[in-house]
Amino acid sequence: MFPNEFLWGGATAANQIEGAYDADGKGLSVQDVLPRGIKGPASEGATDDNLKLQAIDFYHRYREDIDLFAEMGFKVFRLSIAWSRIFPRGDEAEPNQAGLEFYDRVIDYLLTKGIEPMVTLSHYETPLHLTREYGGWTNRKLIGFFENYARTLMEHFAGRVRYWLTFNEINSVLHFPILSGIEGTPEEVGTQNLYQAIHHELVASARATKIAHQIDPANKVGCMILAVPRYPLTPRPDDALAALTAAHDDFAFGDVHCRGYYPGYLLRKLRDLGVELNITEDDRTDLQHTVDFVSFSYYMSACESATERTGGEGNLIGGVPNPTLQASEWGWQIDPVGLRIILNEYWDRWQKPLFIVENGLGAKDELVDGTVNDDYRIEYLNDHLVQAGEAIADGVQLLGYTAWGCIDLVSMSTAQMSKRYGFIYVDRNDDGSGSLTRYKKKSFDWYRRVIESNGSVLKR
Ligand code: BG6
Repeated sequence: MFPNEFLWGGATAANQIEGAYDADGKGLSVQDVLPRGIKGPASEGATDDNLKLQAIDFYHRYREDIDLFAEMGFKVFRLSIAWSRIFPRGDEAEPNQAGLEFYDRVIDYLLTKGIEPMVTLSHYETPLHLTREYGGWTNRKLIGFFENYARTLMEHFAGRVRYWLTFNEINSVLHFPILSGIEGTPEEVGTQNLYQAIHHELVASARATKIAHQIDPANKVGCMILAVPRYPLTPRPDDALAALTAAHDDFAFGDVHCRGYYPGYLLRKLRDLGVELNITEDDRTDLQHTVDFVSFSYYMSACESATERTGGEGNLIGGVPNPTLQASEWGWQIDPVGLRIILNEYWDRWQKPLFIVENGLGAKDELVDGTVNDDYRIEYLNDHLVQAGEAIADGVQLLGYTAWGCIDLVSMSTAQMSKRYGFIYVDRNDDGSGSLTRYKKKSFDWYRRVIESNGSVLKR
């Protein structure tokens, strides 16, 4: 069912695993001033109670962790490069060599283990200086800074990194502008600034794609979308329209990345909102550099209604709770079939290869006798992978699957350690205590067998 060349693996982000937040010349990123995650207030500078400052110390323990990934049989490891390690303030002309050298060590070690690196250029970790001095992505200058950053990495890692993702969950900016380095709520930022920022990111993503192909035509560049299938809460046509309208907010990002121009429904939305974008002729030309594949995260689905607006908990996008689904301890509604639906929708819409680059269950784990009996995680992953297999049988071209937080890491939304996703348990607690020792969970061996059998041990 899964093709022979299917890329099995795991995914992480620099700010959630590395720690060493100021080592070897690294500058601060927005994550270093968000000790309570994206829903809490930002602090002026880095504070000791921010678990991300040390995270799981991947910076010093990467060999041990990669050895464990190799033991599970990973074919691919998705990591992000911290922009502020390479350009500490973000606006320098020349990179920080010590930052590049850290990623040399990591990437070379992955390659010696036969693991393909997949690099996210920007995973919610805009250099703080770009946020505080420039207003983050609202400022057109960030396109040039990002271009310099992308070119630096793509030249430096040419021949070693082939898979590149531009912006993690690029559509999340609509809900949490800080994830694009913009301080304030969407209301405070205002729709004009928000959509101009989105435009800048889309142009920057396209320019990075152009550069990747110029440097090495074998490079594969993907956009990365937070995928949430939207169901109408009832069969009422108005609810179906509400679901379509909400889905358009996500589709728009893939449409621009895959088609190279703004879709009509988005232009209409901008007109209705009174937004007038500054789009140059160069921007339009750059946008035509479309991606090679579409990657996405998938954790949950959501319902939409023409009359009810809120109530759903979840990954950044809430929607209205679905009365037919169970939820995780954090209220994210579990829906394996939704993965098959979104895979079919994306494939039908874009006809580009797809890559599931995040999926997993955040849960509280109990370490007993040096392991965790995480059957709940195995069940979640099994059921989602079965549906991915169904989508492949439907004709969807799926390149691979990287389980989110393959090793326990600091949660993005809540900055907790106790919200765990990994196959590998890391001894660190929400109060910062713990030895950082790694332990294999029951799911470790399960995933090893899934990979070894190319999915044939999955239970339908
Ligand atoms: C995705 C992000 O939205 O969800 C990750 O790309 C994040 O960075 C993941 O960690 C899970 O969310 P959380 O809030 O449970 O860490």
